Amino acid sequence: MTFMNPIQVGLLGIGTVGSGTFKVLTRNQAEIRRRAGRGIAITMVADLDTARAQALVGPGVTVVADGFDVINNPDIDIVIELIGGYGIAKTLVMAAIAAGKHVVTANKALLAVHGTEIFAAASAKGVMVGFEAAVAGGIPIIKALREGLTANRIEWIAGIINGTTNFILSEMRDKGLDFGVVLKEAQRLGYAETDPTFDIEGIDAAHKATIMSAIAFGTPVQFDKAHVEGITQLQATDIRYAEQLGYRIKLLGITKHRADVDGIELRVHPTLVPAKRLIANVEGAMNAVVVHGDAVGTTLYYGKGAGAEPTASAVVADLVDITRLHTADPDHRVPHLAFQAGSLADTRVLPINEVITSFYLRLQVADQTGVLSKITTILAESDISIDAVLQRESAEGEKQTDLIILTHDTVEGRMRAALSQMQALPTVLAPIVNIRKEELN
Ligand code: HSE
Repeated sequence: MTFMNPIQVGLLGIGTVGSGTFKVLTRNQAEIRRRAGRGIAITMVADLDTARAQALVGPGVTVVADGFDVINNPDIDIVIELIGGYGIAKTLVMAAIAAGKHVVTANKALLAVHGTEIFAAASAKGVMVGFEAAVAGGIPIIKALREGLTANRIEWIAGIINGTTNFILSEMRDKGLDFGVVLKEAQRLGYAETDPTFDIEGIDAAHKATIMSAIAFGTPVQFDKAHVEGITQLQATDIRYAEQLGYRIKLLGITKHRADVDGIELRVHPTLVPAKRLIANVEGAMNAVVVHGDAVGTTLYYGKGAGAEPTASAVVADLVDITRLHTADPDHRVPHLAFQAGSLADTRVLPINEVITSFYLRLQVADQTGVLSKITTILAESDISIDAVLQRESAEGEKQTDLIILTHDTVEGRMRAALSQMQALPTVLAPIVNIRKEELN
């Protein structure tokens, strides 16, 4: 079935992704029409800088300063929200849903925190909320998780889902520089924002991991339960030692279903990954997500996680989906969180102390007889098994050295208790560096 008139789209916020979306839709309109069965056109844009917006979209598109003018326009069927944040973006998304419009958004922060409420409102109103662009930009990971892998029990997901931090970590490794130096360089080159907090503190990655976790396990979105650590404390020394032991350090968003306790792990933190894994070799600002399903095994999705057209690729894909499906019975569409709205589970998100992982430890110790044995005794008595030990040869006359220990899997709480015992030893001379390690096999 083809319609002569295009479906009309209103765009809220025409920044980098908004203008990319307008460009892709315009450039590929013939292909998109053939795929969607109907043209898709942005006919109205709301942006505070109306002059700039009008210059970007040309005279054929109505430009307004107030987003509500878009929502109140009965000709608009789909609203794209690219404002970001929880404030006016949330008000406008809820108002668009209430007005019976479908919504496409790239706003991971909004969905990770208020997603359950937004999806419930959308389901009640019979409209769709597309959010492919919210996780890993151009990588169609939502589509993969929600549809392509729908036969599977998802067991775990681990992703490099923040380009800024992956760029910084790649530079730290390549150049042997510490975090602060590389951050400044990344800001100068435009790879990091002037206020990089959300990226470097792991919050952006945690928003995305939260959304993937909900879709993978059929639970409500629960950002407040995520354990979040960024990369600001990471030192070049540890990247170097990890390398010597055959590992790379990546900021991973991890979510796992733990069958032993029927709980979900949801965490973002720097992680040692075996250098031989494909994901360990994802460099610069690129993103990659590994998904392990019980039937399919391990799968990997790689691509650009940000940028105008990569993100627009995901936004437009949602527009096509909505154009194809908006006349379908709402009960027969793909559910927002992959599982039918009435069958979401209340599986517990595990506190970090109950997480199972292995560890990299770096201890600055006095180079004296018996130091190693005291440390290994504490680990043994804590039932933590050692996988590898590396001791730096001390220089002539040097009275201290670095002791690097890799452990096997353990419960985090047990490791925390062992760490405080080790820290209390007079021969341990500095705070013990501990970084989690995942084999991802
Ligand atoms: N700031 C993000 C990143 C992109 O660096 O990957 C948008 O989520």
